[in-house]
Amino acid sequence: MPLLLAPGTTLVAATHNPGKAKELVALLDGRFTILSAGELNIPEPDETESTFVGNALLKARHAADLSGRIAIADDSGLSVTALDGAPGIFSARWAGPSKDFAEAMAKVEARLIESGSDDRSAWFTSALAVAWPDGPSVVVEGIVRGGLVFPGRGVHGFGYDPIFVPAGHDQTFGEMDPAAKDAISHRAMAFAKLKAALF
Ligand code: IMP
Repeated sequence: MPLLLAPGTTLVAATHNPGKAKELVALLDGRFTILSAGELNIPEPDETESTFVGNALLKARHAADLSGRIAIADDSGLSVTALDGAPGIFSARWAGPSKDFAEAMAKVEARLIESGSDDRSAWFTSALAVAWPDGPSVVVEGIVRGGLVFPGRGVHGFGYDPIFVPAGHDQTFGEMDPAAKDAISHRAMAFAKLKAALF
């Protein structure tokens, strides 16, 4: 039997970030009521897996089992070819405790210079997982490929957006109109796959 999510279902977003929970509601076209793990006092698990898919599944499973409700989780990040995929699942951690992405982007640039490679290709990944309490789970992955530029450009978006130029475009994600980014982003690709799988 296919796994289906009926509109109006209450989902737990496995995040303590209210912004992320809000973004999930928008990306799911407001079809569901979303409670965040933070609101339910469900602690965040340690992200102990080595892949985006593994960490998304781990977070969704944890929130579903502790809340008794269907849970959704994401894990995302930037991977750089010449750095063997780093920062990858450590993308948020490269910004340090103060979440300083200027520092994280400078670290990417310094590591690239150290590597001696001219290859500036990179990609963003978004893994999305939905887990049923005591039941199955579904995970999908969206990817957008592109290249890195230094110094970064643009004021939109977040994280590593100023240094990432998606393939086939001239502007960085930081320069693009947010709606234009949303149309081609790794997150949009992952949500399209999730919707195709579950709705
Ligand atoms: P997460 O919240 O653990 O999934 O961390 C994802 C991290 O990857 C974020 O803190 C950002 O640094 C980075 N990241 C993921 N998606 C994007 C994006 O669309 N633009 C810029 N940075 C991103």
